[in-house]
Amino acid sequence: MEDYLDWIYMGVMSAFVGGAMKKVLASHVSAAPTVVAWLGVTLLVERLWLFCVPAVLVLAALCLACCLYSVRTAPAPTLPVQGKAVFITGCDTGFGKAAARRLDAQGFEVFATVLDLCGEGARELQKTCSPRLTLLQVDITQPQQVQQALLDTKAKLGLRALWKSVGLVNNAGVCVNFGDAELSLMSNYRGCMEVNFFGTLNVTKTFLPLLRQAKGRIVTISSPAGEQPFPCLAAYGASKAALNLFINTLRSRNGTLGVKVSTILPSSYKTGEG
Ligand SMILES: *[C@@H]1O[C@H](CO)[C@@H](O)[C@H](O)[C@H]1NC(C)=O
Ligand SMILES: *[C@@H]1O[C@H](CO)[C@@H](O)[C@H](O)[C@H]1NC(C)=O
Repeated sequence: MEDYLDWIYMGVMSAFVGGAMKKVLASHVSAAPTVVAWLGVTLLVERLWLFCVPAVLVLAALCLACCLYSVRTAPAPTLPVQGKAVFITGCDTGFGKAAARRLDAQGFEVFATVLDLCGEGARELQKTCSPRLTLLQVDITQPQQVQQALLDTKAKLGLRALWKSVGLVNNAGVCVNFGDAELSLMSNYRGCMEVNFFGTLNVTKTFLPLLRQAKGRIVTISSPAGEQPFPCLAAYGASKAALNLFINTLRSRNGTLGVKVSTILPSSYKTGEG
């Protein structure tokens, strides 16, 4: 009988302590009062245990029921997005357009650059997104347009900063040709470098002061082709490799840059949007 009670006791205690730990792990800040409450209840249960086992069992059952109830009814936790601004390049198609739509739908303030303001992608974004979304016409190989986008973004943000977690998404890029490394024209190599490397470099340098102010993050969409050779992707891969090295150099500054740096290397995805 004693053994049996001990096991129940251990079970109940683990449930309480486990519950408390789960709350602590789930949130560092807002859980403090909840954790204190849990520990209080745990202590209370321990005291009660000395006096009356059935009462404790009932209490435990009640708590379990409460937990299950709250787990089932709690809405999925969402990020507070109010006033959080993200700048994304290359939103005419693909990842850029999808990201702009998604973030806008979640309530972010999106600054989406497109190559063609009258293009299909821009029109679709305008139609499907909220008025929070700002479309900016930017060819990232044109430094004046990049500079203008910075001015427009600053004007709209006023005293606010870009979002800390993702301020700038370097998404714009091209793959001008698929072809044999030897036979690809110099102009193909230069074209890829111009957009993927020099363009992204200019955008990053232009936005760094604004990002630093936000202690924000630069997310760069690169490619596995920049990490290893793929047949027929020499021009594209070389430009992405140069970009990766530049971004990695920013990252290696050990925080002295004042912004965080991430790179995403997606392979081919069917974004269904060109
Ligand atoms: C962007 O490129 C242009 C042309 O090369 C250059 O004049 C400008 O200084 C660059 N922007 C930054 C922030 O370096
Ligand atoms: C960054 O910090 C690490 C550990 O503190 C150190 O080993 C490394 O040399 C530093 N790198 C640079 C570029 O300062």
